[in-house]
Amino acid sequence: MKVGVPTEIKQDEYRVSLTAVGARELAEHGHEVLVQQGAGEGSSISDADYEAQGAKILPTAADVFAEAELVLGVKEPQPVEVEMLTPDTTLFTYLHLAPDPDLTRGLQESGATCIAYETVTDRAGRLPLLAPMSEVAGKIATQAGAFFLEKPLGGRGILLGGVPGVAAANVMVIGGGVVGFNAAVIAIGMQADVFVYEKSIDRLRDLDVAFAGRCSTVYSSTLAIEEMLPQADLVIGAVLLPGAAAPNVISREQLKLMKPNAVLVDVAIDQGGCFETSRPTTHAEPTFEVDGITHYCVANMPGATPITSTFALTNATLPYVLALADHGIAGAIEKDPGLRPGINVAAGKVTHPAVAEAVGTEYVPPEDALGLEPVGA
Ligand SMILES: NC(=O)c1ccc[n+]([C@@H]2O[C@H](COP(=O)([O-])OP(=O)(O)OC[C@H]3O[C@@H](n4cnc5c(N)ncnc54)[C@H](O)[C@@H]3O)[C@@H](O)[C@H]2O)c1
Repeated sequence: MKVGVPTEIKQDEYRVSLTAVGARELAEHGHEVLVQQGAGEGSSISDADYEAQGAKILPTAADVFAEAELVLGVKEPQPVEVEMLTPDTTLFTYLHLAPDPDLTRGLQESGATCIAYETVTDRAGRLPLLAPMSEVAGKIATQAGAFFLEKPLGGRGILLGGVPGVAAANVMVIGGGVVGFNAAVIAIGMQADVFVYEKSIDRLRDLDVAFAGRCSTVYSSTLAIEEMLPQADLVIGAVLLPGAAAPNVISREQLKLMKPNAVLVDVAIDQGGCFETSRPTTHAEPTFEVDGITHYCVANMPGATPITSTFALTNATLPYVLALADHGIAGAIEKDPGLRPGINVAAGKVTHPAVAEAVGTEYVPPEDALGLEPVGA
């Protein structure tokens, strides 16, 4: 199969969807790897590195999209990329379609088969292709929050860890999954007082064991969140309902409860955001203020640390890329049914139930859209 690797074009995105390691593995499996010139530069991978492992360098994105049967990406396709998709393309990338009906419609109209990293599941129902970027984003969330709490950057002017004789800052993490756990780990490491709010009792149990008393775990409810907001210096939003738009956990009205110049970091912004006042921002202009509260809502946080993120992401995606290239979609799903919920759009239909509900369109099972045998038949 011909596997394409275009350069990411979202603003301040420096990751790439395949490393030289992946190019070598695909070549050894008999596939042809087509890399857009310069695609790896942001992650310190040169064209020569790819070529040394058997990849072919093509000058433009249009060349890659025209030739490749399987196109790999990192961020959701931008409008000019959507235009280059055809019914013969399989696109494998982050899509985050629930908050984006326009992109969903564009992908439907392209006829392409679009598999989203973030809704692929593993045997335990976890999200193995979201997890590595959530680990990165969780760690960045606390770093960014600490930074924007500094007075010259518009923050309250409080040091997360305090000093002897002066209290540490209060960090509230809402959502105790992969992002939340990693955000809390860094906040604990920076010696803040940390409170993790989570809805799942089983997850609360796991967190309690993992943190061994070094932070408080709290059952997440409107009242519990409201009671903590007046004390919080930094709030990190890290909730997720897979495939669906993020639930709203702090309303505009509740911002009034907070200290002036406290900081909100909305990591869930890629699923529409979990604070009512959030809107996506970029690394170039990461924050804005609403009612005296700083909001940091960068939708591609791991893009800022490509040398870590590219390798973490591709370590996780490579086995799926190989399966898709070796066996095609039907064969890959048969070998790993966790790929099936990854298919968000196929042959003009929306094939993930939560996405269909979020964008208000009909759900069609991927087998029906693609004319495949039902899984397990
Ligand atoms: N902005 C970025 O660059 C970036 C990068 C990576 C991940 N993300 C996003 O971060 C979000 C979290 O990802 P994750 O991997 O940690 O997901 P996850 O599934 O591991 O964790 C989400 C947690 O939220 C909990 N939850 C759901 N509703 C809740 C509520 N009302 N209150 C408290 N907890 C609630 C769930 O029980 C779950 O434990 C996702 O939207 C993901 O797409 C964003």
